[in-house]
Amino acid sequence: MIKQFSIEDFRSPQLPSNLPEAIQLREEAPSNIALIKYWGKSGLQIPMNASLSFTLSESKTVTGARAVLREKAGDDVRFEFYFEGRRNKDFEKKIHTFFGRIADYIPGLKAYEWRFESRNTFPHSSGIASSASGFAALSKILLSFEQTLLGTYDDTFASVKASFLARLGSGSASRSIFPGINIWGHHPDIPGSSDLYAIPFPYEVHPVFDHFRDWIVLIDSGKKQVSSTQGHALIDTHPFKNQRISVAEKNMNTLIAAIKTGDLEVFGRIVEAEALMLHALMMTSEPDFILMKPDTLHLILELRRWRADEKIPVFFTLDAGANVHLLFPDSQVNRVEHFLGAILPQVKLIRDFVQ
Ligand code: PMV
Repeated sequence: MIKQFSIEDFRSPQLPSNLPEAIQLREEAPSNIALIKYWGKSGLQIPMNASLSFTLSESKTVTGARAVLREKAGDDVRFEFYFEGRRNKDFEKKIHTFFGRIADYIPGLKAYEWRFESRNTFPHSSGIASSASGFAALSKILLSFEQTLLGTYDDTFASVKASFLARLGSGSASRSIFPGINIWGHHPDIPGSSDLYAIPFPYEVHPVFDHFRDWIVLIDSGKKQVSSTQGHALIDTHPFKNQRISVAEKNMNTLIAAIKTGDLEVFGRIVEAEALMLHALMMTSEPDFILMKPDTLHLILELRRWRADEKIPVFFTLDAGANVHLLFPDSQVNRVEHFLGAILPQVKLIRDFVQ
């Protein structure tokens, strides 16, 4: 179990007086898919409920950085951000906000001038949330930078601090640091869980989840019509807010038990209930919004019919969008390929698995 850290633990010691002239770093971080959803927050990225995710294996962001010592540290963080070869001002705006939140925890940040180059291994605008892997990769860079200046931290602390920083960029990014299964958010029954950072799943995982698949069916790759920031904000005044908190807490306990025992039926029931509840919360916000498309529902209904007929362990989840994630054990790969070919023959697919 990971010991509990407080905000004060993430403040760094003073910088040494002779800093290196230039530092070159490169890190990568995977995307993740939430099974217990984070939807609703308060203050500075404090989640309304604890969430749990699978870390993906193939869908990653890779980021390189070159930091050159400034003559004199400024009050601002000076940087340029290039995405897939081009300077990206939209990303720079988001990263500017992020740096404003984390500068106190990375004292060397303002002493250097930065150039970041980043790319995703998954297709651009594929509808996969890239903010999770993007902020996680950036946070890992900042941790390597800090260790270059201050000496090496132990691995657990370095990962926990990377998760703490990543959370301040995008909540779900906190869960893109550890492989396997991550839990972010305080839960009364999970020792070591914290609102400030994610922790690796603190229990034994049943082998049925080894090489587990997540195939992302790309139903719609357009820009999100409602950002997750707007969506989270609508939960503040949501009529079902309190019920959501207690259902999420209960679902977490049931899902954890299913992951320990390998009970795929219970696993699927909870994962699907969470996906539908996320979208139900969106559809009952004020104003409401609907992110599913006709093919989202078509696939869900066909999957359920197929599963009832053939008794196969293939389940779905949804992120904040129309795409459907199909979750299943390795043994079902050929059958799922066949099923998708029959239901949505033209559809694009990202075949990922759990790390
Ligand atoms: O990390 P954010 O602020 O983009 O929120 C992500 C919310 C969901 O993707 C819908 C659910 C989750 O837990 O990842």
